[in-house]
Amino acid sequence: MTTTATRLPPRLPISQAAITARYVLGGPMAALKVRAGGGPVVLTTIPGFGDGISVTDPAFVKQVFTAPADVVHGADFAPLERTLGKNSSFALDEAPHLAQRRLLLPPFHGGRLAGYEAIFEEETLREIATWPLEQDFRTLEPMMRITLNAILRTVFGAEDQEFDELRTFLPSWVKLGSYLTSAPALQKDLGPWSPWGKFLRMRRRFDAAIDRLIADGRADERLAERTDVLALLLQASYDDGSPMTNAQLKDQLLSILVAGHETTAASLSWTVERLRRHPEIVERLRAEAEAGGSELREATIREVQRSRSVITGTLRWAHQPFELGDWVIPPRMTIYVDGVAIHHDPSIYPEPHRFNPDRFVGVKPDTYAWIPFGGGRRRCVGAAFAHMEMDVVLRTLLLNVDLVPTTEPSERWRFRGVAFAPSKGGVARVRSRAAVALVAPRGRAAVPGVGDDQPPAGGDRQEAAA
Ligand code: HEM
Repeated sequence: MTTTATRLPPRLPISQAAITARYVLGGPMAALKVRAGGGPVVLTTIPGFGDGISVTDPAFVKQVFTAPADVVHGADFAPLERTLGKNSSFALDEAPHLAQRRLLLPPFHGGRLAGYEAIFEEETLREIATWPLEQDFRTLEPMMRITLNAILRTVFGAEDQEFDELRTFLPSWVKLGSYLTSAPALQKDLGPWSPWGKFLRMRRRFDAAIDRLIADGRADERLAERTDVLALLLQASYDDGSPMTNAQLKDQLLSILVAGHETTAASLSWTVERLRRHPEIVERLRAEAEAGGSELREATIREVQRSRSVITGTLRWAHQPFELGDWVIPPRMTIYVDGVAIHHDPSIYPEPHRFNPDRFVGVKPDTYAWIPFGGGRRRCVGAAFAHMEMDVVLRTLLLNVDLVPTTEPSERWRFRGVAFAPSKGGVARVRSRAAVALVAPRGRAAVPGVGDDQPPAGGDRQEAAA
């Protein structure tokens, strides 16, 4: 057996306390300053994980994302196993991870998603109809309801009682789970009213609801005609021919919910926050939407994700000595692919603090320099789903409400347990609203056609004024 001697990159000359304080007090944009001047790969403190390697150059990002599955892991020390379950994609590596992914990817393939459009639009219209006029309000919670309902209908295939049951208790449970994930010391069952005891009780409620959905699905004579993700997973099988077990289905559905609901809502809320500070882009977007186009809108979504990445970086762990450029990273060491630093590198994105959707018009984002969805064999399964949902929600907003611009300073980044959201909730003000007619009833995704086949505060203010 050959052993490879560890060769670590230079350490960022800043103390652990200083780095942590920057992150905690100033958020990811303030932390950018800390990293400025460091090399493309540095040894530093990864808040929450101790010493680790921070990667801020696309060439090295590529090496991390394409490293063999047995050399670089994605779940070794990920704190999600206890909250999401041992069958979650976030808790698995190598062959077991690949096996889950093989089943999860087809239902989320872009071609399948077109039929979900009507559901995304309907959920958006339902929220818009309740928005006050000429009054500030937070968009994060409405966006959370849109993205939760969308997942329950298109992924879980929930309707009627099951839909209402899940919709009622999931938001508070997911929020509790998110905070408990980052506070392992609290993960002790000290009775039903302790945070972890409450979490476990709600997990049993979730499991019971999903068991009912699974039983209904297995008994459904028309399962093959259904287009929700659960229906597709119930019909799928592993390479050895075995189907997914209830335990696997439950952990995966929970993982999808946690990974897909708050992230998409926070990105949408940032979209409102950015656009209110850029009325000239809103005008162009509206004209484009009225003409049936989407190029600028899709570029805007990509620019929001570049400039306000709700997941600020991607974690990996060396499982065997990992050769990264000239360095050799030892087993167990954390590798942090720093999305925020890459997304604000002026040599990749000129004037990185300027909100400029045009940089993505007619340009395909680079696989290793635009990484809000992570990358490689662990890249977000729901990336196409999220993109399409954000596209439909934004289009529906543009066509139905008149967003009032603001000269308020940019909102800061606030971590909410899963994702970074605008600190004030993405405040909106709406001048007028089209008469919104809701006709379609809520129900699972039985849609025809589917299945047919802040920089440092000053900089941000300048941007708002720009
Ligand atoms: C704007 C919205 C979203 C963002 C920013 C986001 C971001 C991410 C990131 C950074 C990862 C980790 C990737 C890696 O380690 O390389 C991930 C994984 C994942 N995401 Fe998303 N996500 C979003 C929406 C969604 C949606 C809508 C779904 C499903 C409906 C989803 C399902 C998943 C799953 C299942 C994984 C685990 C993949 C694996 O381990 O193989 N995400 N996401």
